[in-house]
Amino acid sequence: MIIYKTRREIETMDRCNRVVGQILAALAREARPGVTTLDLDRKAEEMIREAGVKPAFKGYRGYPCVLCTSVNEEVVHGIPSPRKVLREGDIIGLDFGVVLDGYFGDAALTVPVGRVSREAADLMRVTQESLQRGIEAARAGGRLSDISAAVQRHVEAGGYSVVREFVGHGIGTSLHEDPQVPNYGAPGAGPVLKEGLTLAIEPMVNVGDPAVRIHPDGWTASTVDGSLSAHFERSIAITENGPLVLGGALEGM
Ligand code: MF3
Ligand code: CO
Repeated sequence: MIIYKTRREIETMDRCNRVVGQILAALAREARPGVTTLDLDRKAEEMIREAGVKPAFKGYRGYPCVLCTSVNEEVVHGIPSPRKVLREGDIIGLDFGVVLDGYFGDAALTVPVGRVSREAADLMRVTQESLQRGIEAARAGGRLSDISAAVQRHVEAGGYSVVREFVGHGIGTSLHEDPQVPNYGAPGAGPVLKEGLTLAIEPMVNVGDPAVRIHPDGWTASTVDGSLSAHFERSIAITENGPLVLGGALEGM
């Protein structure tokens, strides 16, 4: 069941996602050679406390941290670890969410650690652009799969592949609400997009094959072929004036 939000609720979600964006921007600046992924999680915990909000991920189905850190061939849901040290040339996906006044915010970006290969930089650019294309397709009167198709078209035109096993989602008083938002599919299908619909759109894009596998930790998803992967995510609301990116512009994306 899709839960449509009032303007007031969308305002709260905008404030919530603003906090998410500020913390993500700070974490992106911390992602430097020599830093561990657990260092980033600690930093995120500290900023959550200072902001007076609650983490969205910690404890969700037993997830142990406030942040997901997915390095290189890791696609999503990498668990921060003191043994995972960032090195020059890595790319790292930072996926983060908080709860403010009962509403969830959720966003992700992938950033370079120092200087990265042209391939890595191009992958991040195309993935971010595909999110932008998806957001632009999120218009009242359209259909849900218009978003999916816009993402997929851009990714595949760039020569990359879209992960199928994970999808975007509705968001509100829960992290995951209906509907699911795949990053692939033909346009013109699924629910009609209406004012008040709030969605987290989150393309996961691989250089090689789209297949992923889950590590024995039960969370970390990696590409099966070992190729690089990138992930960008924003929460949006559909309004009469078009898609509204909740939390506004985010530094670095
Ligand atoms: N952005 C991811 C999602 O929407 C983050 C979930 S991580 C989890 O699914 F730990 F909370 F599951
Ligand atoms: Co999400």
